[in-house]
Amino acid sequence: MRSRDFGRAAAGARTLDAADELRAFRARFALPKDGRRTLTYLCGHSLGLMPRDVPSRVAAELERWAELGVEGHFPNDAPRRAGSRARASAFPGPEAGWLDYHERFSAPLAKLVGAKPDEVVAMNTLTVNLHLMLVSFFRPTKRRFKILIERDAFPSDRYAVQSQLRFHGLDPRDALLELGSRRGSFALDRERLDALLEREGERIALILLPGVQYLSGERLDVGELTRAARRHGCAIGFDLAHAIGNVPLALHSDAPDFAVWCSYKYLNAGPGAVGGCFVHERHAEAYDLPRFAGWWGNDRARRFLMEPQFAPLRGAEGWQLSNPPILSLAPLAASLELFASAGPKRLRRKSERLTRYLEWLLTTELGDRVRILTPHDPARRGCHLAVQFDPPPRKAGTFMARLRAAGIVADWRQPNVLRLAPVPLYNRYRDVYDAVEAVKRTLDA
Ligand SMILES: Cc1ncc(COP(=O)(O)O)c(C=O)c1O
Repeated sequence: MRSRDFGRAAAGARTLDAADELRAFRARFALPKDGRRTLTYLCGHSLGLMPRDVPSRVAAELERWAELGVEGHFPNDAPRRAGSRARASAFPGPEAGWLDYHERFSAPLAKLVGAKPDEVVAMNTLTVNLHLMLVSFFRPTKRRFKILIERDAFPSDRYAVQSQLRFHGLDPRDALLELGSRRGSFALDRERLDALLEREGERIALILLPGVQYLSGERLDVGELTRAARRHGCAIGFDLAHAIGNVPLALHSDAPDFAVWCSYKYLNAGPGAVGGCFVHERHAEAYDLPRFAGWWGNDRARRFLMEPQFAPLRGAEGWQLSNPPILSLAPLAASLELFASAGPKRLRRKSERLTRYLEWLLTTELGDRVRILTPHDPARRGCHLAVQFDPPPRKAGTFMARLRAAGIVADWRQPNVLRLAPVPLYNRYRDVYDAVEAVKRTLDA
């Protein structure tokens, strides 16, 4: 899309919206309101909006519980003996029962992350899954005992790896390596990473990196980084909180050891929704790996035999602990259906255009005042742009309150970063236009 295609500001945005092949999807979401005004919501990187089908999906499970009690676990047609395997299809109605409920999510999630269905599982929340993965894939020895993360890692990831190091009797001051960026840059510094791997690679047991960096919005090359890690004999995992549902992923062929994600951002599954986990196929039968176990990870045919020995399921499902929270999984089904009908190609196409439009408007309207921290190359980002102002707003709190009073929902992160994410499933070009206009009006107000 060339800049002249944008025409004159608001009229240009309306024209682009009229030509948007995904415009009908916006009506499938509940749009937050402030009195009678519909808010301009550019915060899908934090909490995605609610698909309108969510209440009926959750209500159906509540009704099932009310009507059937414990028998709600089994398909309606033929209550089964516990332990027998029910047919798994993608999102059947509530008549299908809860026993294999989580299995319905494997195929659509696998599509989103470019994996095989038995490499993924919907379970727990991100940090819980990260701990479970670290238990299995961080296996320090006397010579190889360090963990490498980025300097700007999301705090929960940092706390998780610090606590895992301590759990193994290691001191994070010796055993936690942090990869910094070049001065003034937020981008992953490949040269510095390569130098660090040359110097420390044989002491690094595990590398943890994001798929899309939560602050800068930079999309990392999962395949490249995995190959670099493996050249040095390091295990590698990815935090996909800001990547899943936002950028294309190819986890099976890129082949990291594991990945974890949450579902409340781009997957629109609601606050605290059930997250997910990827374990590469090469570990599918690695039953000797240390793991924290629970009955839902046990062989499904034997789960209800109440035997003392644990026989893990093949693949990612073998890392499950508990029976899944059905009411917190139901919203994810509504959202994944929308992803399937919009299709990954159309979503990516619109995402690139919408984000380029945001970038173009910001630089056109705010000139030198704005610095975009997210890479300019669409291949190196998703839909979220991280924006800094020079000089920064006098008081960030006042600036954000004024933006909110103008009906714009975005967020601010230290140091001096405004995050804006136009999400292709429900945002319009008009939203982007309104947000940039409001930023311009309120920055020095
Ligand atoms: C990049 C990243 N990692 C980890 C988390 C923590 O997720 P959870 O609270 O689901 O464990 C978040 C939450 O926003 C995040 O953005």
